[in-house]
Amino acid sequence: MAVERTLSIIKPDAVAKNVIGEILSRFEKADLRIIGARMVQLSREDAEKFYAVHSERPFFNDLVSFMISGPVMVQALEGENAIAKNRDLMGATNPKEAEAGTIRGDFAESIDANAVHGSDAPETAEQEIAFFFGQDGLCPR
Ligand code: PPS
Repeated sequence: MAVERTLSIIKPDAVAKNVIGEILSRFEKADLRIIGARMVQLSREDAEKFYAVHSERPFFNDLVSFMISGPVMVQALEGENAIAKNRDLMGATNPKEAEAGTIRGDFAESIDANAVHGSDAPETAEQEIAFFFGQDGLCPR
């Protein structure tokens, strides 16, 4: 199976709940290595740029407002099948549909405040990692 990288964001609701460590621990237990990580307070401009692909969707303004409502933690994860593995760990986008034992099933309250973001494909993972870490901001092991 291919070694991949993916971008993960611990969103403001999960940061406010003080569960950063519990979420990072799930990545590590699943053999995903954290090769870059930092706390970020996104500006509105940053969030609009990051989510530009969703700019025509009805929830765009709510999503941007939520993502700038407090600090987030961004991390680049590396491991076999990292993109799909992270999405499995995250659970369904709507926490009401997320299984217990997934990050959203255990920590998220609503589709607006759903604890984590994860890249959905290799191309977006590359773009999203570059958005936060540039070309030289990672420490691969
Ligand atoms: S996904 O997971 O990307 O396939 O889901 P998608 O439905 O395409 O949603 C894209 C992102 O928008 C968020 N979202 C919402 N935010 C606020 N309100 C509503 N109603 C809503 N619906 C979807 C969803 O959490 C995704 O954010 P990220 O950060 O990419 O997970």
